Amino acid sequence: MPEPNIRRATKDDARSILETHYLAVHETAAADYPGEILDEWSATVDEARIAAFLEKFSDNREGELIYVAEVAGKIAAFGAIVPANNELRAVYVSPRFARQAIGSKLLAHLEAEAARYNMTELNLDSSLTAERFYLANGYQIKERGQHRLRSGRTMQCVHMYKIL
Ligand SMILES: CC(C)(COP(=O)(O)OP(=O)(O)OC[C@H]1O[C@@H](n2cnc3c(N)ncnc32)[C@H](O)[C@@H]1OP(=O)(O)O)[C@@H](O)C(=O)NCCC(=O)NCCS
Repeated sequence: MPEPNIRRATKDDARSILETHYLAVHETAAADYPGEILDEWSATVDEARIAAFLEKFSDNREGELIYVAEVAGKIAAFGAIVPANNELRAVYVSPRFARQAIGSKLLAHLEAEAARYNMTELNLDSSLTAERFYLANGYQIKERGQHRLRSGRTMQCVHMYKIL
């Protein structure tokens, strides 16, 4: 199992983070959702998308903390927490690093950081794809629901939580 180096993201990571997101959604999650949902969940990585990400990253009104997991100097996964909302915002692993415990190691790091930021629980909307991953990492199901995308389309999700 590769031992990832986990650190806070910087703006130089923007393209790699978005590419990781794109591949995780369009390959790993592809069996669980229709194509039009995948396209909206993660659009093609172009300069406009990178610029939009960077704008949100530097503005960061929500206080989102993004972390990346590197293997041999390349980004293999990223994840995020939002302390003000007690929220786990994301965990995405590049498909070529799937099932090598990188997601679990990143998640453990996010939980330790969450505790350091005085969070006592983490809440998230899990994709159907990630449900078993979160269950395997000690998360519990609150209820099944729908996550609303910007277009108004909805995708099935699972509201989950973990007390830290
Ligand atoms: C969910 C995700 C982050 C898991 O990352 P990962 O690094 O492959 O996960 P791990 O290797 O740490 O898996 C740990 C355990 O979780 C469970 N698990 C992970 N993926 C699973 C799958 N596809 N099916 C069943 N169980 C799974 C297993 O118990 C696994 O242990 P095992 O490999 O020894 O059986 C990754 O599949 C991903 O990026 N998915 C697409 C994007 C997504 O939906 N992200 C979540 C948004 S809420």
